[in-house]
Amino acid sequence: MYRVIVPTRNELARWRDCVRPLLAARISPEDIIWLQAGDADALLGEAFTPPRILAGVRVSRQFMECAEIALCHADRGRLDLLYRIAFRLQSERKLLTIETDPDIVLLTRFNKAVRRDSHKMTAFVRFRALDQTNERFAAWFEPEHFTLERTAPFFAERFANMEWAILTPCRSVFWNRERLIFGEGAKKEDVPAQDALEDAWRTYFASIFNPARLKVSAMTSEMPRKYWRNLPEAEIIPDLIRSAQHREAEMIRTKASAPPTRHQRQAARHKSAEDEAVEFSSLTQAKKAAETCTRCPLYENATQVVFGEGPAEAPLMMVGEQPGDREDIEGHPFVGPAGQLLDQVLDEVRIDRKKVFVTNAVKHFKFVPRGKRRLHQKPNGGEVSACRFWLDHERALVKPKVMVALGATAAQSLLGSGATIGKLRGAPIELDDGTTVFVTVHPSFLLRMPDREKAAGERVAFARDLEAIREHMESIKGASVALDRAPAGP
Ligand code: URA
Ligand code: SF4
Repeated sequence: MYRVIVPTRNELARWRDCVRPLLAARISPEDIIWLQAGDADALLGEAFTPPRILAGVRVSRQFMECAEIALCHADRGRLDLLYRIAFRLQSERKLLTIETDPDIVLLTRFNKAVRRDSHKMTAFVRFRALDQTNERFAAWFEPEHFTLERTAPFFAERFANMEWAILTPCRSVFWNRERLIFGEGAKKEDVPAQDALEDAWRTYFASIFNPARLKVSAMTSEMPRKYWRNLPEAEIIPDLIRSAQHREAEMIRTKASAPPTRHQRQAARHKSAEDEAVEFSSLTQAKKAAETCTRCPLYENATQVVFGEGPAEAPLMMVGEQPGDREDIEGHPFVGPAGQLLDQVLDEVRIDRKKVFVTNAVKHFKFVPRGKRRLHQKPNGGEVSACRFWLDHERALVKPKVMVALGATAAQSLLGSGATIGKLRGAPIELDDGTTVFVTVHPSFLLRMPDREKAAGERVAFARDLEAIREHMESIKGASVALDRAPAGP
């Protein structure tokens, strides 16, 4: 038996340096005891000395990418697993593609757990100001896995202009506005307990907490109890629950919400069997839940979820494709160039955007980095279908009478994968649930057209489509979305 000590927990390069000579010497996985730095039983087995002549070693880049993630898993069995797979890969070239192989099943499970943990860190870390200048912040967080290193760059990009530290029990990281500096673990007491940010959080949380729909189980699944401890709002949850009955009575008196039965019936119609148990009582609550969505991989690289916005009972819902670069940064739909064009045309045809619920088929920005720019990429069918979950919840909550699909992706999300603009444009389409769908082009399509003359023609056709929609809305009682004032003019 050989004893091999891996000097760090999750550093790929150090792990690779340990593994390569073992693989080259064809040491069988059963003959190795893996230890981590600091392990008490470091005297078991015989230290491994690499032989002088080493055979060639093959490990694919794909495997190294998986290994880099799985190494962050807290289960020490990861070291056995990763070596076993690396060893098998020497003769079983296709191993990684065999999804039913027990080692690959475990590798996939480890990777998912690490990604999820990392994502949770991005969603649940709460910085607290260290002084009055609001430039220095610290946060306490308890990840389940060794995910601080892989997650810290997200915060560096997001909060580049502040100085901040994230402290966890086993590692800490400090950002000095230039680079990330990693250090030892810390204690919770190292982070100050109170400040103004916290009060703001608490107020926010109290305002979205709707006692009439109080479902502690749903709240804990969206925000596991473990994370409650670090969230300022968690402190007021027991109070809120206690006062729920009183507040509910008050809400019924003031009719602050729609009767639940109807909305529940509507919501149920849109839900797939798997999601039957999920229910949101408000758009704010649904949005909050979407912030930690991992239903498709797009959450991994985007800055934030961009949820739909507009009146909670808007008669008209406009559906775009997905947030673009600006939307991803600002967190609001249609605020970039496509949004500005949409605003102009809406104004021309006298539709008031403030009366419309504006959203997207997919809620996270999909892009490829190109130098400093991020180039938009079309979401695929799987992503559109995964994200329909959120669009369906928006529909169930807002209950629009009419929906507009801007472009093919939105049309396919609302009407099925065969939908095309050419065939469906202009005429209203009645759905089983009583809503009407109009299909038109996406404003980005106009922006991308190289031929100025053609683009101008398309713009006129787009305006005509929107104008017909405004007229249609006027024909439905109480559903007008017309501007109350005169249009801004050219
Ligand atoms: N394009 C879209 O489809 N949606 C946005 O929110 C912005 C650009
Ligand atoms: Fe979830 Fe939609 Fe984001 Fe995919 S794109 S992670 S389904 S919110």
